[in-house]
Amino acid sequence: MQIKSVVIIGSGTMGSGIAAHLCNANVPVTLLDLSTYISTKARERIYKSKPPLLIDKNKIDNIKVGNINDDFDVVKEADWIVEAVVERIDIKHKIYDKIFKNRKSGAIVSSNTSSIPIKILSEHLTDDEKKDFCITHFFNPVRYMGLLEIVKNENNDLKKIDSLKKFCENELGKGAIVCNDTPGFLGNRIGVYAMQVAMTEAFKMKLSIEEADAVFGRPMGIPKTGVFGLYDLIGIDLMADVLKSFIKELPEQDPFQEVAKEIPLVKKLIETGYTGRKGKGGFYRMNKANNQKILEAINLESGDYSHSKKIDMGFDTVNLKELINRKDKYGEYSWSVISKIIKYASSLVPGITDKFNDIDEAMRLGFNWAMGPFEMLKSIGVNEFFNRIDHFKNNAFLENLSKTKDENFYGSRQLYTDIETLGKVKPKAIKTDKNKSAEIYRFKDFNIVEFTTKACALDYDSMDALKKATDKPLIVINESMQFSAGVNLSYTMSFAEKNDYKSIEKFIKYFQDTCKELKYSKYPVVSAPSGLTLGGGFEVLVQSNFVASHTNIVVGLVESMVGLVPAGGGCKEMLWRWSQTSEAKSDPDFAPLKVFEIIGYAKTATSPIEAEPLKYLRPKDKKIMNRNSLFSESKKIIDQNQNFKSPDECTFKLSGKPLKEKMIKVLEKLYNEKVILDHGMKVGTELANVLSGGDTTSDKLLTEDNLYELELKSFMSLIETDQTKDRIRHTLATGKPLVN
Ligand code: NAI
Repeated sequence: MQIKSVVIIGSGTMGSGIAAHLCNANVPVTLLDLSTYISTKARERIYKSKPPLLIDKNKIDNIKVGNINDDFDVVKEADWIVEAVVERIDIKHKIYDKIFKNRKSGAIVSSNTSSIPIKILSEHLTDDEKKDFCITHFFNPVRYMGLLEIVKNENNDLKKIDSLKKFCENELGKGAIVCNDTPGFLGNRIGVYAMQVAMTEAFKMKLSIEEADAVFGRPMGIPKTGVFGLYDLIGIDLMADVLKSFIKELPEQDPFQEVAKEIPLVKKLIETGYTGRKGKGGFYRMNKANNQKILEAINLESGDYSHSKKIDMGFDTVNLKELINRKDKYGEYSWSVISKIIKYASSLVPGITDKFNDIDEAMRLGFNWAMGPFEMLKSIGVNEFFNRIDHFKNNAFLENLSKTKDENFYGSRQLYTDIETLGKVKPKAIKTDKNKSAEIYRFKDFNIVEFTTKACALDYDSMDALKKATDKPLIVINESMQFSAGVNLSYTMSFAEKNDYKSIEKFIKYFQDTCKELKYSKYPVVSAPSGLTLGGGFEVLVQSNFVASHTNIVVGLVESMVGLVPAGGGCKEMLWRWSQTSEAKSDPDFAPLKVFEIIGYAKTATSPIEAEPLKYLRPKDKKIMNRNSLFSESKKIIDQNQNFKSPDECTFKLSGKPLKEKMIKVLEKLYNEKVILDHGMKVGTELANVLSGGDTTSDKLLTEDNLYELELKSFMSLIETDQTKDRIRHTLATGKPLVN
């Protein structure tokens, strides 16, 4: 069955998100709501959304809008009708009645419900209608969350469900997991339970919210919003509704009931409008003092707010064993939370799914966890877990495992998909090398490099791994959320604070050498980015021979924001790309001026479609909807390039001084308009120096090495200034740029 047109009923948060994502997949879609006014507003919201729900904003008109009274005829043409109206069974039943009277024979009808069992949703349907009805539970925001849970009913046409699953995988790029009809399915059942455990244990153990978030965050492989930050993000009132629904749906003896009980402080927050980021604030709030925004955190005992404190856990990478064995309250808290999550998740097998592996994958895809509960168990070690755990009555999974104590109980990963993913390949590959920032695998006759630092920030070791891995065809790819947020600023600053500029220079030179090696080694190099691909991360990508990019990337050269210029070949490559345009053939200053603008403004693109006009990506670079396919697509590129020849070296003709003067005029205008301040002027001048070719003249031919030298010189002169250091310190502390 082919899905060529879709109708979505209900244009709220989820309906509009699903519509936008179908538009991303080039599938014509119509959004219907109670009135056309509501669905038109929804389309406007899609257009303005941040982060953007659309990969290409120009396609907004491919989303048609209407209302359920005048425009319902569109349902007659649709291959798939998605119901995404409010969570009320009476309303949903009425809509199904109308849909099934109008749909074409065989069209799929699905609900996006997050909590109503399919048994109840489909109770008025005939057996024949049930064949084509299922739940498709997308997560918010639909473009960015990988998980789609599909729930079948007993009458389903299984072939049809399978083709819907394939469509959602291949065209929408979702990790589609089929699960049983139980409350909250997989993701929310475990994810919300985990949040509640993290919260209630923090209350019990008298941890501050910053402490709880610091533990139930990066050290556990969980996004840095932690639990209280995530509560604020989702909405404290919405979470209360979710909990009410779980309390109603789950049996009394379910351990979820224990952690879902109303907490007086939470009730008070909701009643006083502190519903989270959308309200006056939540567990965290922004306050103003002396014209400065200050982040404050609530005291869980008194309910008072005070200046939020940063908690340093002392390490960045995920190491559960180390974490739970700490001899402090963080060790105690983490063990208490992790062991409860493992106990709960395992107690639900096979009730919610017979594949425990699907629970882990649901947590990765739906909550962005680096590992799910069963991988946590594996990572702690089966024996260590059973040595510490108190009891696990009526938990068949743990009872069995306690008998075998099989450290290798886990088996294969990502069973829900047939795609050959990086996650499936890694256990089969040979880990040939590893340092503190990256790992090298050999698979078949090529290498894989995966960065392993926080946000995959790059340092000397990351470069070392890349360099070593060019002895074979190479794929640079990773499973964590970001391809690379750029050069590790803390690492760079650790030298700058000691005035050890020699070490910085050595690192940048090594960065350049490595990128040159990526570009010119005799084997092809493929970069497969997803998520942040910024600064140095982009420089790795741009000097790889091939790119297989996920459609969710944020890409660009952002060095100027921290008072630097790209020095790993970013200026050089952008100059080269822009100098290949027809405009550049007739105007020698066209390319440098264009690149000056792009790098100077630190322009970023939020999709490959936006990246192409800036030339961050080329038309020939692959754009891939399903992140799971990045590996197999990269592998295909390597297979197709058995007779790879490395590219010819580039040369440049730049005008030198007169061009630099043109650029400085641009800067002066910005300075006079106070768009940039003193240090902005300095950074811009250094960038102008690189992009104009330094003291060259237009008749001279510059090599790539000449440009690397110019980049390095400007970088070094900037990193030595106090103002650049101020910018970096500020960004490290706040995540925001400093204008100075
Ligand atoms: P919402 O409140 O943002 O939007 C619901 C939309 O349905 C509104 O635009 C409303 O005007 C429309 N509507 C109400 N009655 C209607 C009718 N008779 N005909 C046509 N349209 C009608 O709700 P949201 O958050 O988008 O939720 C929709 C569904 O998705 C619910 O079943 C919810 O449980 C589920 N869900 C929500 C998630 C979330 O994060 N918000 C996540 C996953 C599932």
